[in-house]
Amino acid sequence: MATTAKKPVKIIHDCDPGHDDAVAILMAAVHPMIDLKAVTVVAGNQTLEKTVRNALNVCSASKRCADIPIAAGMSRPMVREQVIAGDIHGESGLDGPVFGEPELGLDTRHAVDLIIDLLLDSDDPITLVPTGPLTNIAMAIRKEPEIVEKIERIVLMGGAYQHGNVTPSAEFNIYADPEAAHVVFTCGRPIVMMGLDVTRKANATAEMVAKVRSLGNPQAILFAEMMEFFAKSQKEVFGWDAPPLHDPTCIAWLIDPTCFTTKPMRVEIELRGSLTYGRTSCDYFGLEHQEGPGKELYEGGGALARPTGPNAEVAVDVDFEKFWKIIYDCFALYK
Ligand code: BDR
Ligand code: CA
Repeated sequence: MATTAKKPVKIIHDCDPGHDDAVAILMAAVHPMIDLKAVTVVAGNQTLEKTVRNALNVCSASKRCADIPIAAGMSRPMVREQVIAGDIHGESGLDGPVFGEPELGLDTRHAVDLIIDLLLDSDDPITLVPTGPLTNIAMAIRKEPEIVEKIERIVLMGGAYQHGNVTPSAEFNIYADPEAAHVVFTCGRPIVMMGLDVTRKANATAEMVAKVRSLGNPQAILFAEMMEFFAKSQKEVFGWDAPPLHDPTCIAWLIDPTCFTTKPMRVEIELRGSLTYGRTSCDYFGLEHQEGPGKELYEGGGALARPTGPNAEVAVDVDFEKFWKIIYDCFALYK
């Protein structure tokens, strides 16, 4: 496990649980290097009512969230019609495990206001960790622009420079609210993007899931139960033998960034394309800075023309062994 000599990273986890969001919550709640300031919930994998219920269930099951505010946020995207991912996460948004009544309840504040309050009231900057559509974060930035300078960085799961997973071009979290993603990617704060390019290499193999399950504590068993359903739906929809464990990559990066290789890229969100709506256009080769054929295409681009230059560290590779050691170590912390 990474050394605990450093100060823990203050984070707000904005999520739409979701099986992989749930794993990320369980990791963030227990690891000493993470100081979880709030869990804020957004509609995404399922309707807000369901993602909120799931967040309360998972936080309650962690037994580590009694003092952490959990708040419900945006029930709809900023502009587009709502899309959900029932095919992957089931009717409840977290099908598989059976939960009792959650011990924890909701904070009375709207998630957008909680994000704003926590950032403005904090002496130190806070890292935002969105693992769902970016509606809550974008709305907070629009409602109170002064929060931007209090954001240390944004470590998000979303996008892809290769293939999408909800359309051939787009990844779910960005596709579910592309306009919100545009606000976030142009906010000017450092961004770490965990896209499908890397999360598809962070697979929950049967061997790794069995290893975590063998820890035998209730949270490890919950992890294994969630992975059982997730593996089935990912196999049905995409044919994967082992499902990609998307959202936990963000928490793993915070615990040990050396687990990932990243590359600085300009990331723009496609807001106009009929086939490419919600795509993260990632300038992998830095083409926008180069002279040569095609350069004029980027000039005089009207309202969406933006300064070039990287705005995100995009993950391109993961050390599989290290990643799974981080996950195992997190669940081993639940005694
Ligand atoms: C993302 O979409 C959701 O289904 C997952 O929770 C993850 O955040 C992957 O595209
Ligand atoms: Ca998610």
